[in-house]
Amino acid sequence: MCGIVGIVQQKKTKIGKDIVDALTRLEYRGYDSVGIASISNGKILITKDEGKIAEVVEKVNIGNIIGKIAIGHTRWATHGPPSKENAHPHTDCSGEISVIHNGIIENFQQLKEELVNQGHVFQSDTDTEIIPHMIEHLIKKNGLTLKDAIIQTVKRIEGTFAICVVSNLDPDKIYCAKRDSPLVIGINSDRMFCASDIPAFLTQTRKVVLLHDEEFVTLSYDGYEIINFNTMKEVIRKPHIVSWKPEMAQKAGFPHFMLKEIHEQPNSLADYIRIKQPSLSKITEKLYNAKKIFLLAAGTAHYSTLTGEQLIRKYAEKPATSIISSEYESISSLIDEDTVILPVSQSGETMDTIMAIKHAKDLGATILSAVNVIGSTITRYSDEVLYLYAGPEIGVAATKTYTAQTISMWDIGLELGKISGKINNAEYTEARELFNKIPSVVKQTIVRNEARTNHIASWFAKKNSSFYLGRNLNLQTAKEGALKMKEIAYIHSEAYPAGESKHGPIALVEEDYPIVFVTPNDQSHKRIISNIMEMKARGATAIAVLEEGDKEIGELAKWKLEIPKGCSEMFATIPYVVPLQLLAYYTATRKGLDCDRPRSLAKAVTVL
Ligand code: AGP
Repeated sequence: MCGIVGIVQQKKTKIGKDIVDALTRLEYRGYDSVGIASISNGKILITKDEGKIAEVVEKVNIGNIIGKIAIGHTRWATHGPPSKENAHPHTDCSGEISVIHNGIIENFQQLKEELVNQGHVFQSDTDTEIIPHMIEHLIKKNGLTLKDAIIQTVKRIEGTFAICVVSNLDPDKIYCAKRDSPLVIGINSDRMFCASDIPAFLTQTRKVVLLHDEEFVTLSYDGYEIINFNTMKEVIRKPHIVSWKPEMAQKAGFPHFMLKEIHEQPNSLADYIRIKQPSLSKITEKLYNAKKIFLLAAGTAHYSTLTGEQLIRKYAEKPATSIISSEYESISSLIDEDTVILPVSQSGETMDTIMAIKHAKDLGATILSAVNVIGSTITRYSDEVLYLYAGPEIGVAATKTYTAQTISMWDIGLELGKISGKINNAEYTEARELFNKIPSVVKQTIVRNEARTNHIASWFAKKNSSFYLGRNLNLQTAKEGALKMKEIAYIHSEAYPAGESKHGPIALVEEDYPIVFVTPNDQSHKRIISNIMEMKARGATAIAVLEEGDKEIGELAKWKLEIPKGCSEMFATIPYVVPLQLLAYYTATRKGLDCDRPRSLAKAVTVL
């Protein structure tokens, strides 16, 4: 996820300032590095650096750039760590073609090899840089025009993209194309905009044209022309007027980033599945050969490692242990060169986790991590990294990164099962098919439970305390659900193994006490029914996250949060947590709390 913007206008103005303003409203899409390409005296001028927009503007003075045409980019690293070299825009060898890109080019390695063999010299580790070089090649060697060369280039690219191209070969136009990544056009009387998202130009115009996949746009100050780049047929699409306010638009119409991020999960999970990472096989092989395995993480990430721990035990038959990072001391005497440490983190900057892996690394342990933020400290200490590809998460409460962390644990688990023979070929193929369906199950889960959770929230919001009970892998789901309720709705919520709840916690249960049961249709089903009965006998009110059509549990629960039928029992931990995210969100909003900035909490905890 990156933010892109372009402006082409009739008169020369301080265009750099307008690009910076637009990028600032897109900063939620990425904040690793910033760059702009403008055309001055017939030449492309690239100004870029690593850092957040405010830092880069101060360092390289983008705001003072004058011109009629410019494109700008704020990056969320996917290929190559945050650095000046990897910052967009990227150019061809001659510096005449400049490109910004949001998305992921899946066949970039192959295309890069071809270009290197043809003599092109690359300056960055990004997938994006192949685009200007391909365009250059098609112009110089095949004699195509700039426009045709861009069209031929996007046709060869596999993966997702929204791109903007400027060149001194055609200095009055911005060319754009898109597939799967967002791109919109904004229209003013003497200037045109293109951007990843409407807020980029919302202070300038509300007149917008939404682009569709496989479309190519020629943008000049007085008009736009759209074609489908596969059929080459012209597309007629009239602008429409949006009624969004800038703050609303930044959250894509959602009132909070947390809700937006809950809704992004089908896409973030699909991104994780689509991007094939060579590190996966290296990580699973090293785990399979390890003598000792410790998973390290904090908070939400720790709950994902509890899934990882169980999967490694089951599929690799290794004694893997998940440890809360700040409790690392309890295992430090066991660390040696035969140890593999698997840290999991959204930010990659959690100090408790960093200090633990630093110590383990000094003792010779191998560090294999699963991290969302590319180039973060944990990735730099790691021998191999499996990226989560969830995009930036702005809400302090982790939502889409938890499901990304959990799916990464399943990815590792399945590969371990294959290597160890615990999963045979047929089972592996079937499991991968179900794995690929996770995004659509999550999507249906959100649709089914949004109104229900909002309704239950009006009752939950009046409570001071609650239990979340689950069994086996779904004990983690209960733990994560309880953490969400605690951290954003400030309601004391305790997760327990359902079977253990009768050994003490049950003493707290009284009339109308809220208990959330996570009850997938698996081998624990019968036993969890007994647990619900025990609690109901003491007056508890049961909320069950259950499979659609589960009559037995449905009859016991006052409120049902349904997961679509046919959701694989195997990957249940992913969809089953989603209604609990929604329940916490709506309970907090019913209480009038700011879910994106819960009291006393920080997104990345960089202190010990
Ligand atoms: C989750 O909602 C919390 N904000 C918190 O527990 C978080 O998961 C924890 O601090 C770990 O962060 P990390 O994933 O960035 O390492």
